[in-house]
Amino acid sequence: MFSRVSSRNGHRPHSFSSVGEVTSLLSDVGYLADRPLATTVYLQDQLGKPLLLEGPAGVGKTELAKALAAATGRRLLRLQCYEGQDETKALYEWDYGKQMLYTQILREKIGQVVADADDLPSAVEAIGRHDNVFFSERFLAERPLLRAVRSPEPVVLLIDEVDRADEALEAVLLELLAEYQVSVPELGTFTAEHVPYVVLTSNNTRDLSAALKRRCLHLSLDYPSAERELDIIRSKSTGLPEAVATHLVDVVRELRQQGMRKPPGISEALDWARTLAVLGASEPDTELLTDTISVVAKYDRDVERAMRVLRDSSERRDSSELQEQGDPGRIGNDRGAPGEGERRAPVPGVDPDDEPAGAALRAARDTPGRHGAGYYGESTDGPAPRRPVSSSQGERSFAANHGRGKR
Ligand SMILES: Nc1ncnc2c1ncn2[C@@H]1O[C@H](COP(=O)(O)OP(=O)(O)O)[C@@H](O)[C@H]1O
Ligand SMILES: [Mg+2]
Repeated sequence: MFSRVSSRNGHRPHSFSSVGEVTSLLSDVGYLADRPLATTVYLQDQLGKPLLLEGPAGVGKTELAKALAAATGRRLLRLQCYEGQDETKALYEWDYGKQMLYTQILREKIGQVVADADDLPSAVEAIGRHDNVFFSERFLAERPLLRAVRSPEPVVLLIDEVDRADEALEAVLLELLAEYQVSVPELGTFTAEHVPYVVLTSNNTRDLSAALKRRCLHLSLDYPSAERELDIIRSKSTGLPEAVATHLVDVVRELRQQGMRKPPGISEALDWARTLAVLGASEPDTELLTDTISVVAKYDRDVERAMRVLRDSSERRDSSELQEQGDPGRIGNDRGAPGEGERRAPVPGVDPDDEPAGAALRAARDTPGRHGAGYYGESTDGPAPRRPVSSSQGERSFAANHGRGKR
């Protein structure tokens, strides 16, 4: 009685000829994939399997699907999952409003259909013989999964944050993922003409079923290496100087170790980079990072932890600068006592008091300003004030000079 849509499982267009091509096509559209990810995408293409990406928020899962669509010129269809979502929002539903409108307009015609019926059961029977009219493709409201299967062009289907959906919806997905087909009882089974690239993402808020995982190529996506994160920031042309970007990546990576409620993802790192660039950061500046901490820390507890990290990192940087300035090779050289602010770190294992340049080290720790400005090598207006000399000192000096002069 109902029409059945024939299976249209045609050829599967290949878009990638190698893993290297995946990397370069994705990079052309601004997505920097590491080798394991590029390999998995290549396999997805070659094997025609869905790809399941699991990992923390902000590591580029959703972005991969968008980039894949942009890189291959495919349309992106997206199913955003949420709690309580039912299959009518994922697969299809019957357009009830349209059905009602048609029945209103066609009231007279429908009346003719039941005109000959003597009682209610035979009237229902008469209407029933025509219900395929109302459950036809005309009244079918496609949702992303059915739309992907029925698309005449190859598409990328993003099933985003599938861990938010109920397990019942996962079961609905199984048929699609295994066969790339969707059954509509009133119409038959629709099968994809072109195998879509299906990308499922999960933020790991719950375990997904083994059946779902079995049908997919699975990849855990983690935070990128420092090098790749820096490359990503560079690639977005934020205008942030290299030294600031490098420092920012170090800080962000450290923040991720702090057990924050929401550790910063690549997106937060990028937002921070853009923020610092707008504020004109020209060198690593803890104060500026502190002022803009809300870009990466969105909860009070996280802000506290982030502040602590910034403080610690600033102290470490200060002491490493001192370490550099306190290069032991330079101590005791002919530069004499260090000038103001030129503090030197102690040399490990050497007691400064026993060391030849111990005096210089002690002087370096001295309170600035204890001596007159001239002591620190600064220019003074007049001649240096004369220091009182005892008479015996004067004699010794005279004797020494006198003796040299006689020779
Ligand atoms: N590999 C990457 N190359 C370029 N940009 C990336 C990459 N990974 C993440 N991003 C950036 O980080 C942002 C957040 O990524 P997103 O895909 O939304 O994270 P997720 O879906 O894992 O939570 C993206 O909008 C994109 O700008
Ligand atoms: Mg996402």
